[in-house]
Amino acid sequence: MTDPPFDPAHRARHWSEVYQGRDVETVSWYQPEPKASLQLMDALGVEPGQAVVDVGGGASLLVDRLLVRGFSDVTVLDISAEALAASRRRIGSDRRATWITQDLLSWQPRRQYDLWHDRAVFHFLTSDSEVDAYRMVLDRSLAADGAVVIGTFAPDGPTTCSGLPVARYDADGIASALGPRFAVVRRVRELHLTPGGTVQPFTWVALRHTVPRPRPGAEPHHYPVPMTLEGPYEPSPAAWVREQVEAYERSGGTEANTLRDTGLPIVIFTTVGRRSGKVRKTPVMRVEHGGEYALVASKGGAPAHPEWYHNLMADPDTVLLQDGPTPLPVRVRLVTGDERSVWWERAVAAYPPYADYQRATEREIPVFVASVID
Ligand SMILES: C[S@@+](CC[C@H](N)C(=O)[O-])C[C@H]1O[C@@H](n2cnc3c(N)ncnc32)[C@H](O)[C@@H]1O
Repeated sequence: MTDPPFDPAHRARHWSEVYQGRDVETVSWYQPEPKASLQLMDALGVEPGQAVVDVGGGASLLVDRLLVRGFSDVTVLDISAEALAASRRRIGSDRRATWITQDLLSWQPRRQYDLWHDRAVFHFLTSDSEVDAYRMVLDRSLAADGAVVIGTFAPDGPTTCSGLPVARYDADGIASALGPRFAVVRRVRELHLTPGGTVQPFTWVALRHTVPRPRPGAEPHHYPVPMTLEGPYEPSPAAWVREQVEAYERSGGTEANTLRDTGLPIVIFTTVGRRSGKVRKTPVMRVEHGGEYALVASKGGAPAHPEWYHNLMADPDTVLLQDGPTPLPVRVRLVTGDERSVWWERAVAAYPPYADYQRATEREIPVFVASVID
């Protein structure tokens, strides 16, 4: 997992060209029947009343088969408009199907789903930052008692797919990449026969959330909007941080609103410790653009991520950000590729020492973008 992330613009161009003017039955991943997908959905007990999202669904026939089975809420997301157009031509205007043209890694889902299905998309993520971004989108999209079906190339499968390098997995590898909140329900090995007659071993895995996460007061399938964060407040052990937060909050952001004597503005964000449950407040440089804010996990160029990085990864929807009189609920997402580069330039423009911090560490400094939840 060390390859640099595949640039999002290249990714979009690549997949657009793959499907452009092509008979979708000739692509190597074409299958006339999505057997493993349906078998694992049955193993999970997914029912027609439940909402399904097929990420990187391309021109797959899974949506056709689900509609025939009576499913009434099937979303197909793909980076390639050409791929989705091929499916739409088959299906026509069926209101039970929703089509989203979008790069999965920067998707900001507006609702939640009971089943996340992914055949041969996860394996294209060959860098840690891409896998992190995938996990975050999955986390936001999946209902508290939701389930996941993922199929990737197996350890003895091909090393490339559609001319791109892939990561190969066994079932435990997929499960561990998704994190401890998922438990494996079923594993399947499939030998996929490509239209060209080649056999490709696939690993399939069905998983469920291990701990259902009840969201009190939340409408089903919609995000709750946290206005306050529950938990005991743990002021920073560093006196200057503690005092800055206290003065900023007391004055509604009119005092203590710069980094010490630099004159450069800060904002304060609040998270809940994923293990401790404690509420913590962190001042960071104010990097604002179009109403969104970058949160740069630089830790002054230290070798490891700051602790709050892990809290944001664990619960990106339970965050407050204060840039003025009141803290506002925000949703954060880890940005990658070109989007990270654009935000990184903004961050360095706002606070030039970030460039030194990046030079001082071997890790790529993670950048989150916080958007206010309406
Ligand atoms: C190997 S194909 C599999 C298609 C489909 N799942 C199937 O089983 O037929 C990979 C699909 O993922 C889509 N894809 C690749 N990267 C993506 C991304 N970052 N976001 C959304 N779709 C992506 C491609 O356009 C392509 O349709």
